[in-house]
Amino acid sequence: MDTPKALNEVVLPQPVVGPLTRSAIFLVLCLRPEPENYVAMRSFLRDLSGLVRAVEFRNIEAGLTCVVGFGSDAWDKLFGSVRPAELHPFQEIRSGGRNAVSTPGDILFHIRAKRPDLCFELAMQIMDAVGEFVSVADEVHGFRYFDDRDILGFVDGTENPRGDGARDAAIVGAEDAAFSGGSYVIVQKYLHDMKGWNALPTEMQERIIGRKKLSDVELSDTVKPPYAHNALTNIEKDGKQLQILRDNMPFGRPGHGEFGTYFIGYSRSPTVTEKMLQNMFVGDPPGNYDRLLDFSQPVTGGLFFAPTATFLDELGDSLDQNGASEVPAKNIAEISASDDTSLGIGSLKEDKDE
Ligand code: HEM
Repeated sequence: MDTPKALNEVVLPQPVVGPLTRSAIFLVLCLRPEPENYVAMRSFLRDLSGLVRAVEFRNIEAGLTCVVGFGSDAWDKLFGSVRPAELHPFQEIRSGGRNAVSTPGDILFHIRAKRPDLCFELAMQIMDAVGEFVSVADEVHGFRYFDDRDILGFVDGTENPRGDGARDAAIVGAEDAAFSGGSYVIVQKYLHDMKGWNALPTEMQERIIGRKKLSDVELSDTVKPPYAHNALTNIEKDGKQLQILRDNMPFGRPGHGEFGTYFIGYSRSPTVTEKMLQNMFVGDPPGNYDRLLDFSQPVTGGLFFAPTATFLDELGDSLDQNGASEVPAKNIAEISASDDTSLGIGSLKEDKDE
């Protein structure tokens, strides 16, 4: 008799930590303001894991997963006043003509799978269910490019933390007991000036990124300039490197001259990603900014909090019934100790290659 209760007590994160996949869809929605839309959305969110399972099971090898996150303004209206300690609107940064814009968005769906059809089907089912009570702020269909490269031609994701390191970087722990197991997500949709970038000699591109283009080997400290992307985003506190978990995706429409990178960074605290953005846009020291930004411009920016799968599954019909105040930090240690995140929303641990 103890077993089911014990199982119930496990707080499951959403499938934030997972392998890179070949396909992803990023869907940012705004809730229409009438109160009934919030009630309807809560009810949809409670059933989301079932919807993901239904689509996932049509080709279980494709490893479909979905992470859903909520913006600061939407949080209170959807879930009440008990809120994640560090959730706030995305803070715009302006410096020397560089602009990390903050754009509207209440809900982020990050859908990943080995195959685009699974991502497409889930996005379609989600919109079928919630279309009447939202407007679409942004929708990007990302694909994995050769050798996990971004459209600029560099391998992207190499220095991502792995295993326990990934969980430690991305998943909130006991520091915010009511929301442990959750994760902060920052997204930015970047558009690239490909003509300008391709006109640069490869050696200059390598200095901007901080790695060799063909081999992906990091430049040595004697060659790497202080403005290199991987120098400015490598940040430390008390001698310890502070990391985030990225799953950037190329996207584009060649017929329209559109070429981009969708940046997505999960973190245990948004301050880590914010510090990286500060270094990139303002510079460290100020003026020593990221030259990637001379060729790449963000056209969206948003900060969301992805609560645990358990939080979503246990949502009540009204605000005072939602799980926020009822989800203690009971099993985060077990989650961290486990190698398996596959019990999150519809997730399956799969390699990205078929
Ligand atoms: C145009 C958008 C971007 C592109 C094309 C891009 C591309 C890359 C590439 C090619 C690398 C080197 C390989 C790797 O370790 O992954 C890298 C590293 C990294 N990027 Fe970005 N990136 C972008 C935006 C960002 C943003 C907005 C952030 C954070 C706010 C960020 C954080 C990082 C971090 C933390 C690393 C690893 C640094 C290290 O070596 O420790 N990137 N990025």
